[in-house]
Amino acid sequence: AKDPVRVLVTGAAGQIGYALVPMIARGVMLGADQPVILHMLDIPPAAEALNGVKMELVDAAFPLLKGVVATTDAVEACTGVNVAVMVGGFPRKEGMERKDVMSKNVSIYKSQASALEKHAAPNCKVLVVANPANTNALILKEYAPSIPEKNITCLTRLDHNRALGQISERLNVQVSDVKNVIIWGNHSSSQYPDVNHATVATPAGDKPVRELVADDAWLNGEFISTVQQRGAAIIKARKLSSALSAASSACDHIRDWVLGTPEGTWVSMGVYSDGSYNVPAGLIYSFPVTCKNGEWCVVQGLPIDEFSRKKLDATAEELSEEKALAYSCLT
Ligand code: NAI
Repeated sequence: AKDPVRVLVTGAAGQIGYALVPMIARGVMLGADQPVILHMLDIPPAAEALNGVKMELVDAAFPLLKGVVATTDAVEACTGVNVAVMVGGFPRKEGMERKDVMSKNVSIYKSQASALEKHAAPNCKVLVVANPANTNALILKEYAPSIPEKNITCLTRLDHNRALGQISERLNVQVSDVKNVIIWGNHSSSQYPDVNHATVATPAGDKPVRELVADDAWLNGEFISTVQQRGAAIIKARKLSSALSAASSACDHIRDWVLGTPEGTWVSMGVYSDGSYNVPAGLIYSFPVTCKNGEWCVVQGLPIDEFSRKKLDATAEELSEEKALAYSCLT
């Protein structure tokens, strides 16, 4: 039998946490033969609710779940963890300035970076979900210098999956037959969902999405804005933000990172830019990646047309501004 993997979920008493922890305990994230120990962190006002989640995990009698740590102490939560999914954060409330929200999250991610750096298992893989996800991940990276930068990522897989979903609905094909869309940039409405390299598996082989859709106006307009605005559409419909889809996509992100992407398939992950595709180095930016042996690698050499170039640059520009805002909160 395999040794259990310790998985941290911060903000575990929240909405995404409630959808995510049972998925992890069922093997959706790490595989149906991988035992897990869940570490759940939240803040003192949520301690009682967190304990309720722990009670339900016990009640569900998950065969793969070998233990549960539920705590409001970041050090206890981070100790020995192999995977850290950072869902906890300070939400933007009505009337709050962007700078005030940024400042709260910068201080959270700064202190949790230190706890992870000192107490997590070596080679711990980190996924930041909480918004502003790219910039929270960047702060975490800066304040955990001994964690390899390749180990710190943010979630844009939900946007990637939303793009697959939109293409599948439009063409009336199985979502599992659509692949290689790309989300470039920020997990925000400036992201660029790119279908220029995406394909659909058909009985006659893989066909380009652009050829099958045969409607550039839709692909360059409504498709992009629908994916960019999907989070807002979910809030409007549910009066709550996406939770089951965010949790499921977080599992997809970690599973592909740890177990590898299928041959010929890439996914989108927010990772530390090395300057690929002329994206400024030093931002956490979403790129197309393949994963093997527990490491991601940016897909290189894809041609970028002029339309796309502008969109890659615009979302990079927004991330540079967010980075500057985050740094201004540090002083
Ligand atoms: P929620 O408000 O239901 O839960 C957040 C939880 O975090 C709460 O239980 C809260 O007490 C906890 N928390 C706050 N500060 C904390 C701290 N310092 N340490 C530990 N826990 C802390 O929010 P929800 O819906 O679960 O969303 C969580 C985050 O994920 C939000 O920032 C949201 O914007 C973001 N999100 C990101 C997506 C992505 O694709 N990257 C998609 C959907 C949501």
